[in-house]
Amino acid sequence: PSNTRDLILSSCASVPDFPKPGVTFRDLTPVFADPTAFAAVTSALIEPFRGGFDRVAGIEARGFILAAAAAYASGTGMTAVRKPGKLPREVLSESYVLEYGTAAVEIHRDEFPPGTRVLLLDDVLATGGTLAAAVRLLERAGAEVVGAGVVLELAGLGGRAAVPASVHALATI
Ligand code: PRP
Ligand code: HPA
Repeated sequence: PSNTRDLILSSCASVPDFPKPGVTFRDLTPVFADPTAFAAVTSALIEPFRGGFDRVAGIEARGFILAAAAAYASGTGMTAVRKPGKLPREVLSESYVLEYGTAAVEIHRDEFPPGTRVLLLDDVLATGGTLAAAVRLLERAGAEVVGAGVVLELAGLGGRAAVPASVHALATI
């Protein structure tokens, strides 16, 4: 409900000039720390896709917090979409472009049984580069990405249009 949106917007902290000058960083750690907000956010991320997924994937690092909670609450399992070099076995890797340079996300090559329906979660949608790369990665691994959920969408960066999946944002600023 819109109550969840108000909880997010009132407890999210805005930090000027982090991690670099000119950037206003939206910090959702107070949302995770508040039991009412954390439970409401977890339920609201699941709700539009309830019954339609077998796995929840979360993007390192803050997406892990949400995906673990959502997997537990929905009786499914969790996949960690990791930064490069962290996973011990054979990986699939998907690169994406940053303002300066590139980044990548990885999962194990054998992560999904064929046809696994995955709900992908992260805390913040900004340019959409990270979420878009994660969708491509999951699809290459044989998953069907049924949707992508984020707690906060930073509108005006065009992130939603960059993501090749249905994006559900609990709050937008
Ligand atoms: C943040 C955020 C998203 C991504 C959004 O992660 O948690 O994953 O950036 O940005 P984008 O839409 O422009 O791609 P960050 O890179 O800060 O990683 P961390 O969670 O490991 O700190
Ligand atoms: N907060 C969290 N993650 C982010 C942000 C932000 O403001 N911008 C890009 N990734």
